[in-house]
Amino acid sequence: MPQPSHRITHISSGNQEGWEVYLRGIEMAREGQDILTLAIGDHDFPTPVEIREAAKHALDAGHTKYTTMQGIPELVSAMAKVSTEAIGMPVSDAEVIATGGGQAGLYASMQAALDPGDHVIIISPHYVTYPGTVRAAGCSFTLVAAEADDGFQPRADRIAEAVRPNTRAILMNTPNNPTCAIYDRETLEGIAGLCIRHDLWLISDEVYWSLSGGRHISPRTLPGMKERTLIVMSMSKSHAMTGWRVGWVIAEPDMIHNFMQHNLVNSYGISDFISRAAAEALDRGNGVGELAETFHRRGEAFLEAISGINRIHAHNDAGGMYIMLDIREITMDAQKFAFELLETEKLCTMPGDSFGPSAAGHLRISLCQPEELLREAAKRLERFISTHYT
Ligand SMILES: Cc1ncc(COP(=O)(O)O)c(C=O)c1O
Repeated sequence: MPQPSHRITHISSGNQEGWEVYLRGIEMAREGQDILTLAIGDHDFPTPVEIREAAKHALDAGHTKYTTMQGIPELVSAMAKVSTEAIGMPVSDAEVIATGGGQAGLYASMQAALDPGDHVIIISPHYVTYPGTVRAAGCSFTLVAAEADDGFQPRADRIAEAVRPNTRAILMNTPNNPTCAIYDRETLEGIAGLCIRHDLWLISDEVYWSLSGGRHISPRTLPGMKERTLIVMSMSKSHAMTGWRVGWVIAEPDMIHNFMQHNLVNSYGISDFISRAAAEALDRGNGVGELAETFHRRGEAFLEAISGINRIHAHNDAGGMYIMLDIREITMDAQKFAFELLETEKLCTMPGDSFGPSAAGHLRISLCQPEELLREAAKRLERFISTHYT
């Protein structure tokens, strides 16, 4: 066969990019072992019934046709309305475009903002697909660490040191996966200042917008940032709709026009009946409050359950569906710790450094399990530490 493109063969760095423990957990479960998984951010309950019913209804009503490149008007309006509430500034219909989940929004944002050869600054710890998505646009990147001791708030002076002549964008995520840090105003003002000074795009992944307890601040609301911020949003986490693949991007109308050109040659828009169900779900807010409340309650239950375990500390800004456990007093080698925890206690977690070196010595705990299993996980963790790390 002829050679595949360099672009596609270089999306992956060639290793498993931090998924080793998770993949081993899947393998062990396949072998019939009873694995308790706190590794991934996918809800342990279905999409709210109202949304499922709306999709069935739309399907039966014949909404199975091509849609428009921006998204059907009902969906675009619903997204604009929710965006206005989520980021606290008016967002018009002309400023949104529906995408196949947040990931497709990230991909489209890179394609829209960057040329091959450009350089991107990724604030790390970061969501695992970021490096590959930047490479897919033919660009290079530098990871800039947000440090655990700063509560995982990135520092503008550190970011400034990474700016190169060909830097075109900063990619950041608040509320953050994996740390749950919610970037504060001072942090965001620092980042905004850099973007303005160096004329950079800010690609701001805000897919955990609904899980911040009202504390989320979008950098697009800061002076001078509206025209240079591309916000990536999603219904995956907020509405328990990971498998439906609905997200959107918020940008200036001219940029939305560019995204529409991209949709035309890429996905040709998202599914019709799903769009209709998604529009209704956004309009009615189906599940949003309940989901946020569920993850908050679970977070509290897990924190309570681990409170007696010596030498581990939780970073919990309550912004998301995870808890970041600081195990640095026990070990910096979270990979080894997580592998042993899996082998001996059948508890599957994500080592922090899967998300970047600044999360070494941490474990990410997903709250996508019921409270009793989170308490059970805390017991296993305690037993493991007391027998293996005395
Ligand atoms: C920070 C972050 N961004 C984007 C995504 C992609 O979400 P989606 O399911 O909307 O593609 C995820 C999914 O886990 C995520 O954690």
